[in-house]
Amino acid sequence: MSARVWQTLVVVLASAVAGCGGDASQMQFAENTTVAKPVHHKARAAVKKTLVEHFGTPLDSVAWLKLPVNYGKAEGTVKSVDGRSFIVEFNPEASDLESLKSPELTRAGLLFKSGANQGKSFLLASYDASDKSFEALTAFEAAPADGDQFVVAGQNLRHGRKLYARHCQHCHGVSGDGEGPTAQYLNPRPRDYRLGVFKFTSTNKDTKASREDLKRIVSQGIPGTYMPAFVPMLKDHELTSLIEYIRWLAMRGEVEVQLLKELKNDFAADRAKKEAKESNTSTSEIEKQIAKQLEEYEANAAEGLPAFLESASGDIAGAWEGAEAPETVIVPPVPRVLDSKESRERGKLMFLKDGKCVNCHGPAGKGNGFQTEDYQKNDATGGLFEKRGLHDAWGEQIKPRDLTRGIYRGGRRPIDIYRRISQGIKGTPMPATPATVTPEQIWDLVNYVLSVPFESAAPKAATGSSVEGHPVEQGHPK
Ligand code: HEC
Ligand code: HEC
Repeated sequence: MSARVWQTLVVVLASAVAGCGGDASQMQFAENTTVAKPVHHKARAAVKKTLVEHFGTPLDSVAWLKLPVNYGKAEGTVKSVDGRSFIVEFNPEASDLESLKSPELTRAGLLFKSGANQGKSFLLASYDASDKSFEALTAFEAAPADGDQFVVAGQNLRHGRKLYARHCQHCHGVSGDGEGPTAQYLNPRPRDYRLGVFKFTSTNKDTKASREDLKRIVSQGIPGTYMPAFVPMLKDHELTSLIEYIRWLAMRGEVEVQLLKELKNDFAADRAKKEAKESNTSTSEIEKQIAKQLEEYEANAAEGLPAFLESASGDIAGAWEGAEAPETVIVPPVPRVLDSKESRERGKLMFLKDGKCVNCHGPAGKGNGFQTEDYQKNDATGGLFEKRGLHDAWGEQIKPRDLTRGIYRGGRRPIDIYRRISQGIKGTPMPATPATVTPEQIWDLVNYVLSVPFESAAPKAATGSSVEGHPVEQGHPK
């Protein structure tokens, strides 16, 4: 089997979480209804089916090996077989042997890449490191033979799923849609992972969040929001599994959005009604045509749904892989400009004039610039938002930060602020600085931003200074 073909294979896992059973009917991934609404109901069903094939359900997940998710994986060859148990030899380059110690190895997936069971998935019961033997949970239909190649995968995903259900789901939702039962009480709302967009990254503005970025957020939390810090509660290997689970949920959400958007073109929700009117044919006749066309689209490997899934998932996988490339991390090309009065004044001038920060953050940095009062353009519809002020990629209203409070969600180290200012904040209107702004000027802005809480807290006489020609609104002493 060629490498490319087997990459598209999936390893099925059972991830039922003991003690978290609840109502099994609630344990489904919810549809992204915002995106699905304008799509024909039959096409929506086709998307659901495709997603189940490649991602499974929350309780029976699928490890789609094409995606850059560290599922916990070991590859090897069968040496000898005794009933359900088989002794193996690993391919060290393609095996994470540490992951075989995972508490979630039971019910992880076993997929044969060759032999009588080629392409078939089984569930594992256990692994014994002393004699390198696996035990399968269920009997094989056809006994594996010496030399059969296999891959074991999914223990990290199962582990991540279990931790997610316990610690994150009540806010972020089963599907990672940010719609957990607690979410409605929170502002800002828990992140909806399904756009694949994360705000506080070290990577450049066109790149996704790296594993390191996500780990940092989950470890330290997001100050000033309800996102808690999970260190020291969670151990390093637990964080690792959790991060993979979140990345997997994000990729699943992105695949869903791509499929729905693609299908909307030919299979719009109102198509039958429209065409019936135009052509004087009965709606039921058009519905029949739609059903037939959809069937053909689903079956057409070269130009239909399978081909689209192949390329869309390839792009998504590539984008996530890209975030791990060291060169995407923003490292200032010059050391921090000395935090002097002069530097802050330059930063302040920039803030008020060329940097346009004032438009959103307001003259004293309180987050009340004029853009928070205007009607803003909605790129999704081409029109204006119904409500005044700024909106984020999730369609929620969003306020520029009140910089007088000195709370920085993405971290308070100067380098964190540098990254926020130079690259903007993904998924929000906070823009990257244009290329004409020099790294030294960004450091001036950093120095100024970090001084704002003190400037506004100080008595009036001490900070009456304002940048020449730009009287500055005085903040209130706290
Ligand atoms: C009490 C509710 C709550 C819980 C529990 C919670 N989160 Fe969050 N989380 C939030 C909120 C609110 C935000 C959004 C903050 C913002 O937009 O600034 C968020 C944001 C995030 C982000 C986005 C970071 C970024 O850069 O965009 C990640 C990743 C995340 N949470 C992971 C987790 C994980 C993993 C867990 C469980 C271990 C978890 N959260 C538990 C409320 C919660
Ligand atoms: C179009 C509006 C807009 C402009 C212009 C803008 N910002 Fe922001 N800024 C925002 C919004 C919105 C947020 C909050 C994003 C979030 O965390 O959800 C923000 C957040 C911030 C933060 C907080 C970072 C953190 O980790 O909490 C800083 C610092 C900041 N902006 C500095 C600046 C500077 C300096 C400029 C000018 C170079 C600027 N902003 C220009 C909208 C803007």
